Amino acid sequence: MPDRKRLVLSSDHAAIPLRQTIAAHAAAKGWEVVDIGPTTAESTHYPDHGAAAARRVASGDCALGIILCGTGQGIMMAANKVRGIRCGVCTDTFSARMIRQHNDANMLSLGARVVGEGLALDIVDAFLGAEFEGGRHATRVDMITALEG
Ligand code: RB5
Repeated sequence: MPDRKRLVLSSDHAAIPLRQTIAAHAAAKGWEVVDIGPTTAESTHYPDHGAAAARRVASGDCALGIILCGTGQGIMMAANKVRGIRCGVCTDTFSARMIRQHNDANMLSLGARVVGEGLALDIVDAFLGAEFEGGRHATRVDMITALEG
């Protein structure tokens, strides 16, 4: 992971309040938060926001990313289409820790209509607090990357 604790956040209209809560929470924990919106509740398209956040991570501008939509699923699918992105949806803290430790996930996706605020913040802490373990897991992550062609 790059040295800079720079974190990009984005969502669709279904997750704006939770995204803003996560932004404040991560900033309080020392992350430099790059919240790329949107800021209005107007209906929008999650693939645009997932891709925009993913490009910030893939380019190296941000070390990690957190994206949200209603379920977390659609925006995760979009982010994973960007080369170099490994994004998982999490509804529990164990998975959030493991996708960093074993899968070297560089993005986390959350469903604002699935998890409450308290659990979402615990999931965020588990994700941001974990490190990739490398070793045998690096071999497998390299195999994922190889699938990108
Ligand atoms: C928007 O209504 C909803 O479809 C979106 O937020 C997300 O849940 C899609 O995966």
